[in-house]
Amino acid sequence: MTPAAPILEVRALAKHFPLRRGLFGGATGKVHALDGVSFSLDRGETLSVVGESGCGKSTLGKTILRLTEPTSGEVWLGGERIDNLSVGRLRPLRRRMQVVFQDPFSSLNPRMRVRDILAEPMVNFGLAKSGARLDERVAALMDQVGLPREAMGRYPHEFSGGQRQRIGIARALAPGADLIICDEAVSALDVSVKAQIVNLLGDLQQALGLALLFISHDLAIVEHLTHRVAVMYLGKIVELCDRRTLFTRAHHPYTKALLSAVPVPDPLARRERIILRGDVPSPINPPSGCRFHTRCPFVFHRCRIEEPLLRPVGGGHVSACHLDAAVAADTEKLLPHHQEGPGAHSLGSTDPSGSLPSALGQTPDLRWLDHARPGPPN
Ligand SMILES: Nc1ncnc2c1ncn2[C@@H]1O[C@H](COP(=O)(O)OP(=O)(O)O)[C@@H](O)[C@H]1O
Ligand code: SF4
Ligand SMILES: [Mg+2]
Repeated sequence: MTPAAPILEVRALAKHFPLRRGLFGGATGKVHALDGVSFSLDRGETLSVVGESGCGKSTLGKTILRLTEPTSGEVWLGGERIDNLSVGRLRPLRRRMQVVFQDPFSSLNPRMRVRDILAEPMVNFGLAKSGARLDERVAALMDQVGLPREAMGRYPHEFSGGQRQRIGIARALAPGADLIICDEAVSALDVSVKAQIVNLLGDLQQALGLALLFISHDLAIVEHLTHRVAVMYLGKIVELCDRRTLFTRAHHPYTKALLSAVPVPDPLARRERIILRGDVPSPINPPSGCRFHTRCPFVFHRCRIEEPLLRPVGGGHVSACHLDAAVAADTEKLLPHHQEGPGAHSLGSTDPSGSLPSALGQTPDLRWLDHARPGPPN
């Protein structure tokens, strides 16, 4: 492994699921679940991947873990390319990247005691030299995730949801992983338990120097955990920056809409809710140009025909929007306040009509922005 290499590097990763008709039917199209995603993650770093349901977050996690094969692109683990490795050559590397899913109950074998659940990965990877060493390691894992050692003789159903998630985390740690992918790992938990598990992950990360890829549909959860945030929309990253920048100087209109739904702790502070019209469009036929153009309050002509690429907007912050950074900073003043009424709903809710938005005629004509663009960013 190259010492300076990031623990994880993803290059132009894509996953298109073929759509088939009938049992023996050929492919009739494809679902663009993931479409050219690139980022890197350092040791001891947390990168959160956020976005509405269906935008490709889980597919990203599964493709990195090779639980599903990528259509194209590359995945590098600690400087070694792994997306093209045979199953046999990949197997020992799996020890280093583990996953914690949303529902620990379905991912923990109900017929196994916790001791055996935690011992299994160590036995599989040949990490325990003796039974006594195994017991020692299981006891240490129980301590690390805050579970009483006496509980290692119990079955998963004897634990609460939060405790089961602690078992899931301990199982991910068992083989000595450097990278843990948490896919909605706290989403199903009660608010107070959620906070405890988030704190546990933060503590473990600091103590063990873990890298976390924290996948969540809820931007509020990541605020106290993450170093950087990648915002996904319809299979693509639309903005990526450090946490502080995201929560104070988000650039992309979609990120701003997501942020507007995050509760503010100060009861006197007001955050204007940006209501987006319609649902996320189908990834079978993603919209032309900017994929967000069918819902964006700032859409203008260029957005419908030209795809905005991720480009730097300062300090490691990248965003894929045709609006300029300078102009975008001013967009709060331009926010339209007329998007109530039929078809309008907040992020995260569902449109019962299932209709796609037709906000285009109702948005301000911002074509002038195209001419107002200053030179390229530094
Ligand atoms: N195995 C599959 N076959 C076909 N389509 C899939 C499959 N898995 C996911 N998808 C589709 O890919 C898109 C992204 O899904 P997913 O990655 O689960 O999103 P998220 O985790 O952000 O909610 C969705 O439209 C989903 O229906
Ligand atoms: S490129 Fe256009 S449609 Fe896309 S987010 Fe920017 S302003 Fe909105
Ligand atoms: Mg998911």
